[in-house]
Amino acid sequence: MTSLTPGGYLDLKQLIFLLTAVFVLAGLCYSISSAGGSRRPLSIRETFDLYVRSAQNADLEGLFSTVTDKDKFFFVTGGGKLIDTRQGYYEFHQRWFNATGWEMPVELLEVYEGEDYGYTNAIFHYREEIPEGGSYILDSYFTLIFHKEDGKWKVVADICAPISRAVAEANPEIRYDLDQVYLFDTIKQRRTVRKFKPTPVPEEHIMKILDAARFAPTAGNQQPWKFLVVRDRDTLNRLKGEALGWFLESYENERKPDREQLDRMREGVRESLGGALSAPVYVAVLVDSEASYPDYVIYDGTLAAGHLMIAARALGYGTGFFTTFFPEDKVKKFFHIPAEYKLICFTPVGVPESWPEMPPKKSLEEIAVFEAF
Ligand SMILES: Cc1cc2nc3c(=O)[nH]c(=O)nc-3n(C[C@H](O)[C@H](O)[C@H](O)COP(=O)(O)O)c2cc1C
Repeated sequence: MTSLTPGGYLDLKQLIFLLTAVFVLAGLCYSISSAGGSRRPLSIRETFDLYVRSAQNADLEGLFSTVTDKDKFFFVTGGGKLIDTRQGYYEFHQRWFNATGWEMPVELLEVYEGEDYGYTNAIFHYREEIPEGGSYILDSYFTLIFHKEDGKWKVVADICAPISRAVAEANPEIRYDLDQVYLFDTIKQRRTVRKFKPTPVPEEHIMKILDAARFAPTAGNQQPWKFLVVRDRDTLNRLKGEALGWFLESYENERKPDREQLDRMREGVRESLGGALSAPVYVAVLVDSEASYPDYVIYDGTLAAGHLMIAARALGYGTGFFTTFFPEDKVKKFFHIPAEYKLICFTPVGVPESWPEMPPKKSLEEIAVFEAF
């Protein structure tokens, strides 16, 4: 216990003791405050950590404690959309945080803390489960820009620059980038279309479609094809009438129908031909039977037609591998096609009146056989 001298003065020993006690107490107070009890503002790195932790836990309030209080905000989403208000940034996160089945590990690359401004540069690896199975993956740089507001670092901009987007199926090691997904979808979405809108098809699109067709494989690279493009409406209308006659003639010869059956058939075929020939563009896919490997020209032509149809689908057009109404000998005569050319198919190219439902397709299990039958 310390006590003052009777005269009210401290002796030297007491003075040393008192000063030591004051220093110890001051040190204690300082260390308590540094241990977290203080109001010391967070550094940019700490603010970034809080931001990321909050995002990963879908904690909207935590995230927005790091975001500017002002309405002006600059956000470029991973999808390339610009959101330029704090409210918009808030709503984006509100929607996102309501979703489930996602995770987003983050790698911090760089932190710069200046006087009033600073930034962090990081990569996020976003992965979200797709309801149909598999997952959607987005790897993106994201740069946060910080501004000091009332002494605290606040995020004022968030810019995402995607590195890669992919989907993964059951095996997460096998990723498909979005171009590949698009290609598979386009192949699956190609449909035989039998009725079209009159919407014109620009010549640029026709050439783009034929350009894809010419990259199909051919026997010995013989490329034996010619693509006859028909756009003239009068010619197509004339073809409609002729094709009706061709069909009915062979129907009569083969089936010997009575008058009523013939009339019914005429009406049905007229209607079918009306739809089948309603497109603004037709392509007769032809192959030269005098090419180097004539036994293979049919395969070459069919593969080209396949390419053509998928390319047309990619541009939003329907097609059809039409054969029945367009017998080779008649079509060749109609269009003055040289004798050596074989007709593979006569396909429309046009905007569908509506996209038909996909007809039933066999399952993979039914058709895939491994090693040997
Ligand atoms: C060799 C071949 C001949 C075809 N002939 C015709 C035809 O004469 N008329 C027609 O409307 N569709 C014809 N098609 C289209 C098929 O009916 C169609 O591809 C099939 O029903 C599957 O529908 P999707 O093409 O929409 O997948 C033909 C297809 C091929 C491959």
